[in-house]
Formats: sequence, C-alpha cells, structure tokens
Amino acid sequence: MAKTIAVANQKGGVGKTTTAVNLAAILASWGNHVLLVDTDPQGNATSGIGLQRGSFRKTLYHSLVLDESLAEIAKPSSIASLDVVPANKDLAGAEIELVEVGQREFRLKRSLAGIESKYDYVIIDCPPSLGLLTLNALTAAKSLLVPIQCEYYALEGVTELFDTLARIRRLHNPGLMIEGLLLTMYDERTNLSAAVAADLRDFYGLQVFQTVIPRNVRLAEAPSYGKPIISYDAHSKGAEAYSQLAREIVYESKSTGSRSGSSTVV
Ligand SMILES: Nc1ncnc2c1ncn2[C@@H]1O[C@H](COP(=O)(O)OP(=O)(O)OP(=O)(O)O)[C@@H](O)[C@H]1O
Ligand SMILES: [Mg+2]
Repeated sequence: MAKTIAVANQKGGVGKTTTAVNLAAILASWGNHVLLVDTDPQGNATSGIGLQRGSFRKTLYHSLVLDESLAEIAKPSSIASLDVVPANKDLAGAEIELVEVGQREFRLKRSLAGIESKYDYVIIDCPPSLGLLTLNALTAAKSLLVPIQCEYYALEGVTELFDTLARIRRLHNPGLMIEGLLLTMYDERTNLSAAVAADLRDFYGLQVFQTVIPRNVRLAEAPSYGKPIISYDAHSKGAEAYSQLAREIVYESKSTGSRSGSSTVV
C-alpha cells in the first residue's frame, strides 16, 4: 500500500509546493513509484514538475467532480517512476460544485483507491486554505507534513490547522498521523530564523523534523525551468536538504510507521 502524505498549511507561500515536488522527485529517483497529486487550482506543482499547460486535457477536477478514473488522468513526468495528477484553475470550481454532494470530503480518497496500490508514495500538494480541497487531502492521507516558514508569524495558523486535523480524525480519518513539521526558508544569518526554530522545537518537540530547509536561491529558480531541484542543481544546498528530509521520512516510516510519538501529541 502506498504511503500517502498530504503537504498542507493554510498559510500561503510557506514552501508546500516546493516540498511536495522535491520530496516526490527524490523518492522517485531512489526507485520508488511515486504519484504527485496537485490539489491546488494554482497548479504550481503541475508546472513546477514540468508538465506544460496544453500537454494534458484532464485534471484532478475530472476525477473529483466527474468521477473519471485517475489512472487515465495521471501523466508521467520527466523523472522516471514519478507520475503527476495535474491541476489547473478548473479545480477552483470543485469546491463549489461538490458542496451538495454526499461524502464530499471523501472524493479524493475514492479517486485514489483505484490506483494507490501502484505506488509506494503518494504526495499531495494542498492549496493555501482549509477549504474542501485540503479536507479531501487530509481525509485521503495517512500522514500530514506541515511546512513552516521561518518568519515572525510562522506559528500563526498552526493551531487552527491542528484543530482541523483533530476534526478530520474525529469525523473522517481516525488514523491520520503527523509526518512532521518542517522548517523552511531558514536563513542562518538571521537571529529570527534561529528564534522561530527554537520556539517550534520547544513547543512541538519530536514532531519537528531534524532536517531544516535553508533559504536557497536554486530552489526558487528550479520551478521556472519545470525541474525539481535534483534535476536543476543536484549539488545545491536545497537538493541536499530535501534529500535529507526524504531519508528522515523513509527511515522513520520503516521503524515506527510515523515520526516517533508524533501521532499522539497534538
Ligand atoms: N527554501 C527555499 N529557498 C528559497 N526560496 C524558496 C524556498 N522554498 C520555497 N521558495 C520560494 O518561495 C515561494 C513560495 O514557495 P511555495 O510555492 O513552495 O509555497 P506554497 O506554500 O506552495 O505557496 P502557496 O500557498 O501559494 O501554494 C516560491 O517562489 C518558491 O520558489
Ligand atoms: Mg503551493
């Protein structure tokens, strides 16, 4: 069975897509079969992994709203064994069109059920909101990975996200675990980054990944070439950090099924 990880934080621009794309690419480069699912109408994961607009006709919308099979929607990417379920602005309509539908939080879970077994990992990139698309991702996932940008208001919103997590566990997905909280865009020259990291570790302890993603211009450049960091600059600090994150995830999931203790402490 695939390990399905939702990358979510309702705060915008914290590194969700960068994390989803690069984690998916690195896991695939190690020989895993990986599916990257774009649930954001902005379609940043779709373009960031190199799927050109016009190279696909169908998107996640067709599966969530029109019940079409994901097997026919998923597209291969330039990375061997990495497939992508693309998204575009059509998906914004899904939030509204699904309002009247029964079991509307379960649409993605249902869509994935047909193909999940083909993959070792399914990585879901979420939009910056706690709307129905994110709820679908959290209902379909085995675990939640939360990127947190090292800045002053970093923790704002994390409590609300954890309230949502508790609600999803209660109503739709009792087994949902926390994969980990990931510090992103860490700038070692500033005291602020160090202070945010220290606060987060004080508060959330073992739920915070040891790996910290540095602010790295190569990571910011790569999406404009439609490449994950391992294809764009494999020797950059960003590539190194995301590889370390992937090792942490693979190692932890082998030993405990989730980060130690993380499923209990919220
Ligand atoms: N570690 C990093 N170093 C430098 N730039 C980064 C890093 N991580 C992300 N970025 C850049 O910061 C911006 C926001 O990142 P990203 O798109 O991954 O965030 P997001 O949480 O997915 O945003 P949204 O909420 O809009 O979906 C992008 O321009 C991205 O290239
Ligand atoms: Mg994004």
